[in-house]
Amino acid sequence: MSYDIPAKSEVAEKIMTRIGVLTSGGDAPGMNAALRACVRCGTDAGFSMFGIARGYSGLISGDVTVLDNRAVGGIIERGGTLLRSARSKEFMTDAGQQKALARIEEHGLDGLIVIGGNGSLRGAKRLCEMGVRTMGIPASIDNDVPESTMAIGVDTALNTVVECLDRLRDTAIAHERAFVVEVMGRESGYIALMGGLAGGAEIILLPEMPESLEAVARSVQSGMSLGKSHSIIVVAEGFKPPDMAPTFASSARAICSHLDTLGNVESRLTILGHLQRGGSPTAFDRILASRFGEAAIQALTAGSTGRMLRYDGRDIAAVDYAALDTPCSNVDPDILRLADIVAH
Ligand code: F6P
Repeated sequence: MSYDIPAKSEVAEKIMTRIGVLTSGGDAPGMNAALRACVRCGTDAGFSMFGIARGYSGLISGDVTVLDNRAVGGIIERGGTLLRSARSKEFMTDAGQQKALARIEEHGLDGLIVIGGNGSLRGAKRLCEMGVRTMGIPASIDNDVPESTMAIGVDTALNTVVECLDRLRDTAIAHERAFVVEVMGRESGYIALMGGLAGGAEIILLPEMPESLEAVARSVQSGMSLGKSHSIIVVAEGFKPPDMAPTFASSARAICSHLDTLGNVESRLTILGHLQRGGSPTAFDRILASRFGEAAIQALTAGSTGRMLRYDGRDIAAVDYAALDTPCSNVDPDILRLADIVAH
């Protein structure tokens, strides 16, 4: 169930004064734009805004500083996060969560905005259960946050992938090779699917849809029989072919090795890795992030006791954290079918 975010004119009497913001988990281009909007919309609403460094690790250690409008100047165009981020093992423990709660109380924070992916938003849900007013903003290039059709950072990551695939296609054509390109996405194949479609990949391999190495080889050779002298094979890092020997460090390496045994296919491997997490956020991500920041402040101002936000392709609304209990896949098999048709 989603809840409309009340317009500013409808909000109840301000019941909060001090709001903290943290960024957590894998960083995503646009996190800074979200932080900037949280701080400036919060200041506009009359709040004192605080930045918490290094996600839940910094919350536990009390690394909290005041953020005024000037502190978030000149960051909308920057990737990464001014606050830095972390994956906190300590916060996964009850003791760590109690320490975080104690820090929140010590700093007199009336509300907390968490910008991050599923794990980070589950942390916000936990703090909400402990009595903290939290708002969760989806930010993960994997785009696997339930309810939201797009999270912050996804559009920028996709554009990075497409630029890389365009460059690789030049050399693949020149040398008539098969390029195996590993992209991020441990459980979610969204980057592989949408980046592959936009980049014209001949083959797209997703964690959600396992295929054997044999089947991949047959696809490459089928393309060759249609006159294709090269191929771009985009594989999500979480893709696992059932016939892969356990000795391989990654499926992408196993695919290359298998193609080389065919005798008529020369392959090369490129792992895009953390290139997909950096870079200046696109206009889409800057706008989405700014809207999420405003909505988080509006929801807290209106007295929300705690929810996460979602974008439905047009509007932003608040949804219960319970949505996190239902695994999400923004991977559409019809898109995979389209990508296959238009690549041959
Ligand atoms: O969750 C986003 C993500 O980029 C995944 O796609 C990737 O597998 C993971 O983070 C990498 O984590 P780390 O930055 O800790 O190596």
